[in-house]
Amino acid sequence: MKVIITKDYDELSKEAFKVMKEVLDNNPAAVLGLATGSSPEGLYAEMVKDYKENGTSYKDVKTYNLDEYVDIDRNDPQSYYTFMNDHLFKHIDIDPANTHVPYGNNAEAAKEYDDQVKGVDIQLLGIGQNGHIGFNEPGTPFDERTHIVELTESTRNANKRFFDNDINKVPTHAITQGIGTVMDAKKILLVANGEAKADAVKAMVEGPVDPACPASVLQNHPDVVVIVDEAAASKLSK
Ligand code: F6R
Repeated sequence: MKVIITKDYDELSKEAFKVMKEVLDNNPAAVLGLATGSSPEGLYAEMVKDYKENGTSYKDVKTYNLDEYVDIDRNDPQSYYTFMNDHLFKHIDIDPANTHVPYGNNAEAAKEYDDQVKGVDIQLLGIGQNGHIGFNEPGTPFDERTHIVELTESTRNANKRFFDNDINKVPTHAITQGIGTVMDAKKILLVANGEAKADAVKAMVEGPVDPACPASVLQNHPDVVVIVDEAAASKLSK
């Protein structure tokens, strides 16, 4: 696991872009695993800027997102489908048919999505304050595939900022790639910023590999780059 510490979020996003760009340069038909949330917004802005300034093409790129709320309208302003269109897809030349965001509320939909997620060249991740990756909450078995999950109070609390600050408006369930699905990616890029992530980052990098911190499984992956700002890195011992 390679850990890069940056002075702030802007520098973090630029460093993350370098990692992403190298994958795209090596393979214009790369398969990207993508995440939503606040953490990757700066990286997506860098990708859009690069597309506009340098014309890096995404016409042969495929994307598979990590997760989506259950029983949310696809076009709801808070759906992850809307998030991806607003922050990335509609600004670049990607073919909408090559973009995939999971959707559904049952095991069949989850299995169908899991079967599609193949050959991911780089998987982008954020990390929850409780150490979750995707919506794999603490205690999730490391070999789990795409599945429906009940969100923890910690996660719904963290996400209520997008739902009028009302936890009751935050969906209770999500469909998420499993940790086993995520770990199949050839390369993993995790970004985290802010003090609220410091405990989770420490547990991921320095803690035991234990389902109590789902992100700690990344210690077992052969090619992981973690990019964190100074605040998120503040509890690391070295
Ligand atoms: C989003 C996802 C989540 C987030 C995590 C951090 O697709 O899978 O695991 O990465 O909850 O969210 P932010 O970046 O909003 O702090």
